[in-house]
Amino acid sequence: MTGSFTGPQQRAITAPHSVAISAGAGSGKTRVLAERVVHLLEGGVTPGQIAAVTFTEAAAAELRERIATYVEARAQVDPPRWASVQSRLPLMQVSTIHGLCGRVAREHPVESGAGLNFAVLDESEAAEWLEEHLAPVLAELPVEVLIELPGRIRADVI
Ligand SMILES: Nc1ncnc2c1ncn2[C@@H]1O[C@H](COP(=O)(O)OP(=O)(O)OP(=O)(O)O)[C@@H](O)[C@H]1O
Ligand SMILES: [Mg+2]
Repeated sequence: MTGSFTGPQQRAITAPHSVAISAGAGSGKTRVLAERVVHLLEGGVTPGQIAAVTFTEAAAAELRERIATYVEARAQVDPPRWASVQSRLPLMQVSTIHGLCGRVAREHPVESGAGLNFAVLDESEAAEWLEEHLAPVLAELPVEVLIELPGRIRADVI
């Protein structure tokens, strides 16, 4: 870990409400996000209660590694407090949205409606699936919602 936090970083890390971070390359966005997770852990949230979603697998791996590094730093200073958090870190869900949905579908096949042998569709299979299912979904929408959408973009919006 390098240096202390700037005021805006500190506020983003500890804010009890949602925050959106927009900052330049290499300015500490990932650090703030990882510290925000560690701050939650510090407050008693358990690793299994946290889900972090990233756009790419690489970003998920980076975030997971950062969180582990920052927790390790705290465990060095205060082992009794952080040892159990550290051992439970693998329970934290840090993944892409596909990873998160895959886990929900695998662990809750009935409740999620995914069934026992669900599969993730590739791009062309997904387009085919959408073609088949879009019309019935449109048919279920209240007509007052539908007429608000210009026909040209209706499919994209939905
Ligand atoms: N306030 C700070 N003082 C000193 N160093 C900092 C501070 N904030 C972040 N850093 C360090 O700056 C480096 C870049 O941080 P980080 O990777 O979090 O940036 P980023 O905005 O996510 O970068 P990228 O745009 O590449 O994703 C890291 O080594 C991090 O520890
Ligand atoms: Mg980053």
